[in-house]
Amino acid sequence: MPIHTLEITNVRNLQRAKLQCSLQSNLIIGPNGSGKTSLLESITILSQGKSFRNSQKKSIISEGNNNLTIAALLDDEFCNQSIQGIRVGISKFANGKTLAKIASEKVQRISEITSLLPVCVIEPNSTEIVEGSPALRRQVLDWGVFHVEHDFVKHWRVFSSALKQRNALLKNKNCDVNQLRYWNEVLAPAAEQIAQLRRLYFSDFEGELKSSLRYFFNDDSVSVKVLDGWDSSMSFLECLNRNIEKDKRYGFTSDGPHKADFEIRSNGYLAKDYLSRGQKKLAVYAIRLAQVAHYQKKCSKRVSLLLDDLPSELDKGNCEKVCKELQRLECQVFITSIDTSNLNNMIIDTLSPKLFHVKHGTVTA
Ligand SMILES: Nc1ncnc2c1ncn2[C@@H]1O[C@H](COP(=O)(O)OP(=O)(O)O)[C@@H](O)[C@H]1O
Ligand SMILES: [Mg+2]
Repeated sequence: MPIHTLEITNVRNLQRAKLQCSLQSNLIIGPNGSGKTSLLESITILSQGKSFRNSQKKSIISEGNNNLTIAALLDDEFCNQSIQGIRVGISKFANGKTLAKIASEKVQRISEITSLLPVCVIEPNSTEIVEGSPALRRQVLDWGVFHVEHDFVKHWRVFSSALKQRNALLKNKNCDVNQLRYWNEVLAPAAEQIAQLRRLYFSDFEGELKSSLRYFFNDDSVSVKVLDGWDSSMSFLECLNRNIEKDKRYGFTSDGPHKADFEIRSNGYLAKDYLSRGQKKLAVYAIRLAQVAHYQKKCSKRVSLLLDDLPSELDKGNCEKVCKELQRLECQVFITSIDTSNLNNMIIDTLSPKLFHVKHGTVTA
C-alpha cells in the first residue's frame, strides 16, 4: 500500500519531517548530508524494523534523543487518493526496544507491517548484491519469496531456531552424535520446504526476470539461477547425516538453505568477475524491478520503491530506461538526487514526480 503521509521524528538529522507523498513518484532533492538517505532509511525502518545502512542502531536516533518515531498513513486503494487508510507506526528506543503499531494496536511482529508496506531499496551499495557474498543475493531472493509465498516465514523460523541448536552442539568437538541426528530430523523437513518455496517462487518469477534483463541489457547475456545451498542430488537429511564429521571439524552446519545462492552470470562467467561496475548496477535494477513487477501482478498490491541517488548510479540512457520502467510498473517511488545533478530534469520530465527539497534536515514540498 503506498504511503499517503509520512511523519518522521528524530531519525538522524531529520528531527521533524512531515510529507504528503505522491502515490506515484516522489523526487527528493538536496545537497550532500542534507538528510535524503535518512528519509529513505526512515521508510525502510517503518516497513522492516531496520535500516539498510549497516550502522549501530543507536546512531540512527538523532543525537541527544532517546527514541525515534516513524508513522505513516497508508493508502488502501489502488491508485486512489482516498482519505481512508491504515495508520502504521514504529518507535525505536535507545535501549534497543521497538514498539510497532497498526491502527493504534500493538503488533507482535514487524512482518505484519512489512506485508502492508512492502518496500524495495536500491542504493549505491547495491552493487554488492553482484559483487559480494551470497548472503545479500539470498536476501534479494527471499524478499520475493517472503512476499509471495506466505508459508516461507513459518518454515524459516523453524529452520533457523533448529540451526542455532545444532550449531551450539557443534561448538563442542565431542558433542553427542545422537543429539546431532535429532536436530538433523528437525532441520530437514523445514529446509526442504524452504528450498521448495524458493524454487517455486523462482519458476514463477523467471519469465518476468528474463524480459527485464533483456530490456536493460538488450540481449540474453545475463542469467540468474537459484542454488539450494547443498548438493541437491541428495535429500537434505542425507546431506546432514553425511556431513556430521565435517561439521564437527568446522564447528558449524556447513551446508543448507542458509548457504543458498542466487547466482548471477554474464556470458557464462560469474557476473562479479565479468560485468563492469555500471553493468552490475544495471543488473541490480533489472532484478529488483522485475521482482517488484512480479509481486504487484501476483498480489495486486503496490510496492514502495526507494531509489537512493538514482542519477549518480547510471548514465543518461540507462537512467531514462529505469524511469520508463518505473512509469510502466506504477509502483510508488521515492527517488533521491543531489540538487546539481543534470539528470533531475530528465526524471522530472519522464515521471512528473512530486518534488521535495531537503536542507539541513528540513524537508519542504
Ligand atoms: N544520530 C544522528 N543525529 C544527528 N545527525 C546525524 C546522525 N547520524 C547522522 N547524522 C547526520 O545526518 C546527515 C544526513 O545524512 P544523510 O541522510 O546520509 O544525507 P544525504 O543522503 O542527504 O547525503 C549527515 O550530515 C549526518 O552527519
Ligand atoms: Mg545519501
